Amino acid sequence: MSLIDAAREVRENAYVPYSHFKVGAAVRGRSGRIYAGCNVENVAYPEGTCAEAGAIAAMVAAGETELVEVAVIADSPAPVPPCGGCRQKLAEFGRHDTPVTLATTDGKRFETTVGDLLPGRFEAAHMGRR
Ligand code: THU
Repeated sequence: MSLIDAAREVRENAYVPYSHFKVGAAVRGRSGRIYAGCNVENVAYPEGTCAEAGAIAAMVAAGETELVEVAVIADSPAPVPPCGGCRQKLAEFGRHDTPVTLATTDGKRFETTVGDLLPGRFEAAHMGRR
């Protein structure tokens, strides 16, 4: 299955009683395995989690800490950009040139990279020697 198809499939399971906006995400680990996640909302709104966070959590839970490809899909007029927090999460496990495909359910695509999504990212080096 392609990464985007995995994201499309998991999107169906999104729990979105508040926004009614389903998002699916899939990441490919260094091993080649695909990990998928959907957004999971909560009545205490800030406790909701994004699709990207779910996919990353699944990858780490399976024992991988390096992602080589990302796909995100939603039913939106234009491909949905990951939120700021998810950009930092993707940067934690991806490289500057890791490809990210943002897609809509009706076939629009925007190709970018983890680095382009978060220029000037906060990195361990910013904490100096510890
Ligand atoms: N959302 C994601 O899951 N990923 C994104 O990239 C953008 C936003 C979710 C969070 C919330 O459940 C809903 O979309 C509306 O913001």
